[in-house]
Amino acid sequence: MASSIDIDGAADTLSVTALAQRTSSVLQRLRDSARSARADERREPTFPIGKAAELVGRTPAAIREAEKDGRLPQPPRTQNNRRVGYTLAQLNDMRGLFGTRPWRTGTDPCSVIAVQNFKGGVGKSTLSVHLAQYLAIRGYRVALIDCDSQASATTLFGYVPDLDLTEDDTLYPFLRHDDIESLDYALRKTHFDGLELIPANLRLFQSEYEIAARMARGQANLIDRMAQGIASISDRFDVVVLDPPPALGAISLSVLRAANALVVPVPPTVMDFSSTAAFLAMLDETIETLADRGMAPTLKFLRFVASKVDENKSMQKEMLNLMRTIFGHGIVRTPLKDSAEIDNATARLMTVYELDGPVTSSAVRNRCLAYLDGVNSEIELEVRMMWPSHAARLRKEGRA
Ligand SMILES: Nc1ncnc2c1ncn2[C@@H]1O[C@H](COP(=O)(O)OP(=O)(O)OP(=O)(O)O)[C@@H](O)[C@H]1O
Ligand SMILES: [Mg+2]
Repeated sequence: MASSIDIDGAADTLSVTALAQRTSSVLQRLRDSARSARADERREPTFPIGKAAELVGRTPAAIREAEKDGRLPQPPRTQNNRRVGYTLAQLNDMRGLFGTRPWRTGTDPCSVIAVQNFKGGVGKSTLSVHLAQYLAIRGYRVALIDCDSQASATTLFGYVPDLDLTEDDTLYPFLRHDDIESLDYALRKTHFDGLELIPANLRLFQSEYEIAARMARGQANLIDRMAQGIASISDRFDVVVLDPPPALGAISLSVLRAANALVVPVPPTVMDFSSTAAFLAMLDETIETLADRGMAPTLKFLRFVASKVDENKSMQKEMLNLMRTIFGHGIVRTPLKDSAEIDNATARLMTVYELDGPVTSSAVRNRCLAYLDGVNSEIELEVRMMWPSHAARLRKEGRA
């Protein structure tokens, strides 16, 4: 049904339906423009041999030798016989051959990380997607679950959520119907080998009401539904990353219940810091309430990330120092600075890891990659510390 709003009571009436259609078609044009690409046309990132060797954990010479003696296929070349970069799928084949896959063992728990803060716009989706892609590039098996009906993470994979996807492609059917046993139906491959996505679209918002209504009728265990869904797929993943909506609703609560690790992005501004204080107080209360029902989440790690940091602003520098004092080791050492490279990649509905060249300048891109890799590698270390098989090795190497 078309809905309309009056502007200042004037004769001019705007149709919300028409506006929604117009904005959606602009988004489609943005995505289809030469600067971006649809989900099924996205190219895997590629890596030159030096970088490939570093990521695989062998020398370039070892890779060349394996190519020469046929253990690996001939290196990819252009029509003029020039070497081109290796794809992530090829890197993963090399890891298989060299025995350098970083996977957890069957007895290590799957790491389920919620990138959470109830405040909007703090960089949750940006961090979720870059973290998931970073881990996939390093050879982990990753699932990214977009739990937010705004679907920002989904958009960064080249989808126009309300045109390209239906509610059946999202978490919605699983949250709605108790008889669906696995989330498998919603997982889809992405252009990052080893990274699968459960996308979202606006219809997912409906489940906020539905879960709340059903819980009001006494179905408290619905809060466990997300955890059940993750348990149904976690066997074949090392890490599950959850990108929740910016509010304490039924979905956020289920995300908290399902997660065994929490990463909280906080821009160093007074407003964001104060919202984070409120988030922590609410988190504390929520954990207590869940504990009363015997449903307390067991967090293996909780890390704060200073996000969207602009150190040219003296107030932000002060807040960052204050956050470091308060959170101590809880705050990731590398700040995720505000970067034009992230801004510009997002404007193309892409990520910094996906672009093979700078949108800004090489210097800006390299600095941005240094922040992203710095933050993500600290989280990767926490993930590995969750796994007894890795923790022992890290201790032996003196890295933990
Ligand atoms: N480090 C950064 N540098 C530049 N821009 C950034 C950075 N982090 C996030 N942004 C931009 O800030 C905006 C909000 O980021 P994002 O969507 O990740 O936040 P969010 O917390 O997921 O928001 P919501 O609460 O609406 O889900 C986006 O336009 C994103 O591109
Ligand atoms: Mg978001």
